[in-house]
Order: sequence, then structure tokens, then C-alpha cells
Amino acid sequence: MTAPVLEVENLVKHFAATRSAFGRPLTTVKAVDGVSFALKSGETLAIVGESGCGKSTVGRLVMRLIPATDGRILLDGEDVTTLDDRKFRPYRRKIQLIFQDPFASLNPRMTVGEILSEPLMLHGIVPAGERRSRVAELLHLVGLQPHQGARYPHEFSGGQRQRIVIARALAVEPKIIVCDEAVSALDVSIRAQILNLLKDLQARLGLAYIFISHDLGVVKHIADRIAVMYLGRIVETGSSDEVFADPRHPYTRALLSAIPVASPAARRERRILEGDVPSPIHPPPGCHLHPRCPYATDLCRRDRPMLEDDGTGHASACHFWRELPSAADALPREGRVDPRLERLFGAFAAGEP
Ligand SMILES: Nc1ncnc2c1ncn2[C@@H]1O[C@H](COP(=O)(O)OP(=O)(O)OP(=O)(O)O)[C@@H](O)[C@H]1O
Ligand SMILES: [Mg+2]
Repeated sequence: MTAPVLEVENLVKHFAATRSAFGRPLTTVKAVDGVSFALKSGETLAIVGESGCGKSTVGRLVMRLIPATDGRILLDGEDVTTLDDRKFRPYRRKIQLIFQDPFASLNPRMTVGEILSEPLMLHGIVPAGERRSRVAELLHLVGLQPHQGARYPHEFSGGQRQRIVIARALAVEPKIIVCDEAVSALDVSIRAQILNLLKDLQARLGLAYIFISHDLGVVKHIADRIAVMYLGRIVETGSSDEVFADPRHPYTRALLSAIPVASPAARRERRILEGDVPSPIHPPPGCHLHPRCPYATDLCRRDRPMLEDDGTGHASACHFWRELPSAADALPREGRVDPRLERLFGAFAAGEP
């Protein structure tokens, strides 16, 4: 068993939503409410869930862009949760972030060569004399030509700009890359190219990815494991194959039913949960999903279900995961849906695949 490169234990992040005149927090947003996971080299963990469930906050916490309210973050076995900036510096290189809008994250006044040289310089990664060749090497790694280093970001397409952002992240030789909706803004064909590039780089460099996405269709192609979040908590986790084949939490089932199907013949109606995500300022007691869940009982309204592992690493936080109808019967297929789940899902028009 290889040791994890990243471990997160009971991570909590509360934001002050409103403050008194004296700056004392009056209400708090429980953006992340006790999240744990481990990530190994060469592995991709996808974090999925509806908008506002806390995915990006988890990413920002493990990047140490914001301090945790509680819990621990271990990088290569070292507790980095409360290290000051100076002590954290050697660890900063190990974990890099890529997000949605590559244009916003590239300085328009710098050439691509300068953009890629900067981190090499800041972190003293290669001697000055070798920087040019390292930049050429980085461009090559992401499928660009060395001569393109003389150009400016606006001279590139969206997909190429995301390649540049990836090259910049790779410049510091990280072990982990947090991809926060990294391909969400790209056209379908370009998206596939960037996903393939990420996979290829992972195989070559042994990178670990935290792949944050609301798009389960994309996640299916890249994730080894999945963590499904709802209102700041992981409600189901397991290998990607397991979670897609045998989703156990009613929330995961609802999310899966919302994946658009590529072939028009097989395209089924997209469905999502009825009702809005409750506010993380006043999350419901017990199971957070209970106001939206057709199976909810008094137990669900009262007691928080903990993640229960079946012994294979597939875990779900539902009091009744053993008793629910099998996913095969519950998921909409050939127009057949468990009538109770029918109420859980609110149908909405089929979108673009
Ligand atoms: N700096 C902040 N101050 C107050 N509340 C915040 C702050 N950052 C995030 N939140 C709140 O924390 C919750 C989780 O936000 P987060 O951005 O992590 O969600 P997300 O899952 O990434 O959503 P999306 O899919 O829309 O990107 C939301 O309710 C959000 O409003
Ligand atoms: Mg986000």
C-alpha cells in the first residue's frame, strides 16, 4: 500500500455570513462540514455535487488559500493545516490549482514563455541558463510548439490557453493538481482533448488529481474514485465504477439520472431533485437531504447518518441504503422509474448532451 499524498480529516469551514456592527459573526455558512478523504499518487478523486455544496471550498482549503475552521490536512504525511506561510512554502509547490477560466488566470501582458518562466524563477527550480529549454519542454508536454512561447495569451484558443495553464502548473513539478471545473467552459470536442491530456500527463508523471465538477458525464471519463457532496458533507464515496453501477444514496441516484446521454436514441429525460438546495446557513437537522427525500422517516429528520463503508471502500451516508430498491429499479430506464423516486426527481427538459 502506497501512502497517500494527501489526507484530509474531518475538514470544516464556516464562513461568517453576516456580522454584528462589531464584526462578531451573527450567522455562519457551514460550507464544509466534516469532510475526510485520502488521495494517492496517480489517482483521480472527483468531487461532485450541486452548486454551493462546498466543492470549491474543499479545493481552496487543501490549497491553503483559506484557513480551515477545524480538521487536518496532511501533505505527504506532514500536517500542514496550521503551518505559517514561511513553513508552508516548501509544500506549496506540491499542490497546484487549475480553474475554469484560463483567460482570467493568464497575464495578458506576458508572453507564454515569460508566464512559464516565472514559477521556475520564483521557486528556483532550474538554473537561469536552462530555463529556455525547460519552457520548451513544458510546452511540448502539453502539446504546444516551442516557438509558441513567444506569443501572448490572446493569440491562443480557449483549449490552448487551458494547455498553457496546465503547463504553468506543471512547471513547479507538483504531486497534486486541483482541477476546479477545469474543462467546464470548453466546447465538447476541446473538452475531450484536455481530459485526454490530463490523463496522459497523469500516466507519465504520476500526478494525483482532485477533479471538481458538477458534470458527472465528464467525471465518468476521468475519475478513479468519486466523492458526492451535499450541503458540505460527503454523502457517498467509492470507486467510480461502483458508484456509477450501484449508486446507493438517493442523492447520488438523483444526480446520476441527470447525466445527459450522448446518443439521441438513448437520450432520456434529464431529471434533477425537486426543490432548492437548502441553505448551508440553516441546514436541516438529521440527514441534510431529508426535506427532499421521498424515503425520509423520523430517524432521518433526527439523526445524522454517518458514512457507512461496505468493506470495499464504497460508503454511503443514508440510514436506509440497504433497504432502498436496487438502483437498477430506481433509475429511470426505458421509462421505468420507481414511483417514489419519481417524486424525488423534478423532470426538466432534455438539454444538450
Ligand atoms: N468567502 C465566502 N464567504 C461566505 N460564504 C462563502 C464564501 N465562499 C463560499 N461561501 C459559501 O459556501 C458554500 C459553498 O460554496 P462553494 O463555492 O464551495 O460551492 P461549490 O460547490 O464550489 O459551488 P459551484 O458548483 O457553484 O462552484 C456556498 O453556500 C457559498 O455561498
Ligand atoms: Mg465551485
